[in-house]
Amino acid sequence: MVFLGPPGAGKGTQAAIIRDRYGIPHVSTGEIIRDAIAGGTPMGDKVRVVVESGKLVPDEMIGDIVAERLGREDARNGFLLDGFPRTIRQAEILENVMSARNEGLTAVIKLDVGDDQVVLRLSGRRVCAACGALSHTEFSAPKRQGVCDACGGRLEQRRDDREEVIRRRLSVYHEQTEPLVAHYAALGLLRVIDGDRPCGEVTRDVLAAIEGGAAA
Ligand code: AP5
Repeated sequence: MVFLGPPGAGKGTQAAIIRDRYGIPHVSTGEIIRDAIAGGTPMGDKVRVVVESGKLVPDEMIGDIVAERLGREDARNGFLLDGFPRTIRQAEILENVMSARNEGLTAVIKLDVGDDQVVLRLSGRRVCAACGALSHTEFSAPKRQGVCDACGGRLEQRRDDREEVIRRRLSVYHEQTEPLVAHYAALGLLRVIDGDRPCGEVTRDVLAAIEGGAAA
């Protein structure tokens, strides 16, 4: 499965729920890249400036990362891609990976959220430095400011969640990623869900889409 949608649409939030329900790995290219940056790997050092300015990492580099990740044992029975593909070239890379496995995608789920809501969500998003749990300063405020409800870890703001970078990420999304909507609609894989509703309602529709109950 693939989760598609603008930054802040709730892809990571929904993917974590679906991962737990189906027991398949949640492969977030953004998370892999952020781990590489935090770990100071050669790849992380190379892409740090690109990511912090809101642009995309080169297609072939991200394609190699995804191909390696999907080749691991835990992805044998399925996986959930969050943040990949993001360009038509990346969709071609994924199609090559899938045909080498003799498999196809089950669904491409697009979460629809408007630009103004994206800015509100991302400027208030906080991520736990210890366990990765997400919260929001307004929509899902922690009981103690700056402290994760789940594990007591420190809540941080992502460096690309500053307003000017959020706006750059949005324009990159509209230019480079939105063409995938028509691409996957033509393949009959697209399911569009209104992501601008309470989290539980979105999850209900995501589950219906996966089970084949909702069409675009
Ligand atoms: P990435 O990490 O993939 O960021 P993104 O796609 O911009 O998505 P986000 O993680 O910001 O948002 P999300 O949709 O997961 O929303 P979330 O659930 O967190 O990529 C980061 C960067 O890495 C890219 O800019 C690029 O540089 C690079 N990169 C990554 N993949 C790449 C690729 N394939 N090719 C090239 N470069 C790549 O929710 C957001 C907030 O809203 C949270 O606070 C959450 O609590 C809240 N929220 C969620 N759902 C709801 C709801 N229903 N109602 C109210 N609030 C909600």
